[in-house]
Amino acid sequence: MSKICVVGTGYVGLVTGTCFADLGNEVTCLDVDNERIQKLINGEMPIYEPGLEQLVLQNTRSGRLTFTTDYPKALQNAEYAFIAVGTPSGTDGEADLQYVRSAAEAIADNVDWPIIVINKSTVPVGTGDWVSEVISQRRSGHPLQFNVVSNPEFLREGSAISDFMNPDRVVLGSLQKEAAEKVSSLYQPLRCTIMITDLRTAEMIKYASNAFLATRISFINEIANICESLGADVNEVARGMGYDKRIGPSFLDAGLGWGGSCFPKDVKALEHMAVLHGTQPQLLQAVMEINRNQRRRVVMKLRKALGSLNEKTIGVLGLAFKPNTDDIRESPALEIIHLLQNEGAHIKAYDPQAMTNASKVLPKVKLCETAYQVAEDADALLLATHWNEFKQLDFSRIFKIMRQPVLLDGRNLWDAEPLRALGFKYIGVGRAVNGTFHEEE
Ligand code: UGA
Repeated sequence: MSKICVVGTGYVGLVTGTCFADLGNEVTCLDVDNERIQKLINGEMPIYEPGLEQLVLQNTRSGRLTFTTDYPKALQNAEYAFIAVGTPSGTDGEADLQYVRSAAEAIADNVDWPIIVINKSTVPVGTGDWVSEVISQRRSGHPLQFNVVSNPEFLREGSAISDFMNPDRVVLGSLQKEAAEKVSSLYQPLRCTIMITDLRTAEMIKYASNAFLATRISFINEIANICESLGADVNEVARGMGYDKRIGPSFLDAGLGWGGSCFPKDVKALEHMAVLHGTQPQLLQAVMEINRNQRRRVVMKLRKALGSLNEKTIGVLGLAFKPNTDDIRESPALEIIHLLQNEGAHIKAYDPQAMTNASKVLPKVKLCETAYQVAEDADALLLATHWNEFKQLDFSRIFKIMRQPVLLDGRNLWDAEPLRALGFKYIGVGRAVNGTFHEEE
């Protein structure tokens, strides 16, 4: 059993701390946000993440997991301090490191025994060295014995706990191999591949992984757009590609493009780092441009289907950036809603989990309680997030209550043929049937 402090109770910090407690360690999670910590102490989750609430409750009851805003208390006797704070995008796409600095300084101010500081936040390459400098400078008079290890996270929102417990790999980067090996002992119970490398390489693995996944999605979206001109079906194309073991089937779902708190921020930050150091990241720039266009194309398709968007009512199903989360950061749905509103459309919307978050940023959207309320009197229905509950809707009922039977399936969730048989104009992303491009009807 090890004594661990986790600084930051966002997705990464909270999931990491809770899972380490579940593996038998004594974990204190710290956040400077008092309201958030009070909620956690009362068993209320600040985010929606399947399985998290139960795991937090189990581990707080067992006494292995505690929450505090008090640094001295959180760090007391800690052998490991994980930094898992936010690194928002600055004005030029660079990662803003002010929270990482505060965490590093607080560790320097409150520890007087050997400690390993582990960076879990996604930070620019070179930040591990910078954290070392911040701590050393702070302790210049009375040096602290510490090592910095980079341990990038590969958790997906919506499946973060199972991703933590069943990782494809754990990456640990440090200039002191023994420190990385010590951290690896925390992950031993997971019996997974552990890769030890130098600090900067570990930091780069994180950016390269996210940028590669975003590239796959932009690639398949570009192929989808080509499919639309040539009369092929991108779902089948992706399936046919995915059987090739060198390609694999994951992250080839065409749709509205990638969003969330990670890909947009990380691809931009990688581009920024490259440009800053004299490299022209042409592929990354194209990947971002394709992603932006994917949202504009949906608006274009709706405009085409309805003649004009002015004074039309568009129903939007799903607001979260993907299913199984209440996170709306950089959600394609939100940007599309703004584009539609700019053309005079009225918007109704529903999401199974993201309504509270959405209500804060979408004052002009009529938020509904069910998918059917959204469909009522709508000129078109846009599926923006493929939640399970949208899979099996009663489309005969929807056909009757819509003003115009136009369905834009932004995630290729529905079977086109039965919907067309019911009388809907079905528009997907890169989907044609028997070489016929129905969207051009
Ligand atoms: C992503 C990575 O998958 C994690 O490995 C990483 O740890 C995390 O970022 C992070 O850096 O913290 P996440 O943002 O939770 O995780 O979501 P993903 O499941 O990767 O989806 C990202 C976006 O891509 C979503 O908008 C999703 O709808 C979209 N997507 C995903 C597609 O459009 N098509 C696909 O085939 C897959």
